[in-house]
Amino acid sequence: MVQVADILKGRHVGAEVELRGWIHRIRVVGGKVFVVVRDSTGVVQATVTRGAIPEDEFAAVEKALIESSVVVRGAVAADARAPGGFEVRVSSVRVVHYAEKFPIQEDLSEEFLLDVRHLWIRSQRMAAIFRVRHTVFDAVHEYFRGQGFWEVHPPMITPAGSEGGSTLFEVEYFGRKAYLTQSWQLYAEALAMSMEKVYYIGPSFRAEKSRTSRHLTEYWHAEMEQAWAGMEDVMRHAESVIVHACRRVAEERPDEVLALGRTPEFLKAVTLPFERLRYEDALKLLKGKGIDFEWGKDLRTLEERALTDGRTKPIFVTHYPKVSQAFYKARDPKRPDLVLAFDVIAGDDVGEIVGGSERETDLETIRKSLVEQGEDPKPYDWYLDSRRYGAVQHAGFGMGMERLIQWMCKLDHIRDAVPFPRTPSRFAP
Ligand code: 4AD
Ligand code: MG
Repeated sequence: MVQVADILKGRHVGAEVELRGWIHRIRVVGGKVFVVVRDSTGVVQATVTRGAIPEDEFAAVEKALIESSVVVRGAVAADARAPGGFEVRVSSVRVVHYAEKFPIQEDLSEEFLLDVRHLWIRSQRMAAIFRVRHTVFDAVHEYFRGQGFWEVHPPMITPAGSEGGSTLFEVEYFGRKAYLTQSWQLYAEALAMSMEKVYYIGPSFRAEKSRTSRHLTEYWHAEMEQAWAGMEDVMRHAESVIVHACRRVAEERPDEVLALGRTPEFLKAVTLPFERLRYEDALKLLKGKGIDFEWGKDLRTLEERALTDGRTKPIFVTHYPKVSQAFYKARDPKRPDLVLAFDVIAGDDVGEIVGGSERETDLETIRKSLVEQGEDPKPYDWYLDSRRYGAVQHAGFGMGMERLIQWMCKLDHIRDAVPFPRTPSRFAP
């Protein structure tokens, strides 16, 4: 039993192999059936010649439609005419299951492909993305574990949000109101007072109505929190984890990256450090490009595009105005109108892939910020205990895994970075 990728690496030339998979394409020409077989690692041509196999097997495979499942046996040969340069010369074939007429043919609309997402995920393109995604998740775990972070797990059902009420998903919890988590952060701050350096990758939920190419309502969030650390310390981790993920993908998934429209060289050129730009300097830079931007506002796609234009590496934007920022962000002691917060902004219209900050440690300041933002401090009382019992400087960030993958793979839309995307207009299949 072998896999397609091994055949395409030329490992089995001359050998008799068995291959299991699905029919990706099938073409009957004269006395031959060309079956392109797909497995989880790629596609390879299997050539069935009338007379070379039992007649009933030939008849059985000849009538199979695409996506039928098959087991083929045969000798591997190098053949320049075959896609990928190798083929299996079939000596026996068994159709395991005859597929009905597959609904996905050529030139179908994006909407239809989303309706049949459970079938579209069999495509070569989606499989390539899944392989990259696998490696990116592995790299992020590897990075944080290697740096001495503990993996800890927050709840998904919560009594209050951390990123503002407008994007909270409400759930009915035995007659009471609860919310799906937007971020692990409040729990991470509590856990950092126990385990000091913590991280995790898990789902976050945003009732985000914006229909953009970079918003999902359910996404995977890699988050870290570190006690005894400030903004600069965690910025170093943010750029390093991205560099590490880029390098692993460039080294282990070059074919996938190329098929998706990036090059391994592009990812290898993502090196330390990322450029650091203060918010106010970003405003000046934008003004120089003819973009007038009101102090205090959050950067929009337009501004992010202008800032990353012509750059291949992501950049940091730091020291945002306190107005309109989340309640937990620490004031800059040198500029109380600013917070010690940062974003990592990537190019190709992906924009913000990381958001993080140093955390405010003063109890009264946080309570005031909550009230100013119209929040009831009561559900946050447990959280404020981390400011009552041995508060220390700490900081952390959250990274959208799909945004990172979208940027690394140069995907037009974030939904392709995840197998079954959740957006305002769709939660099925
Ligand atoms: O900037 P955000 O809202 O920050 C937080 O949630 C902090 N509590 C994180 C922390 O400090 N622990 O979200 C963090 C990142 C964003 O930079 C973005 O990459 C991603 O999460 N993100 C989304 N990704 C996909 N779809 C959405 N609707 C997203 N909203 C945020
Ligand atoms: Mg943000």
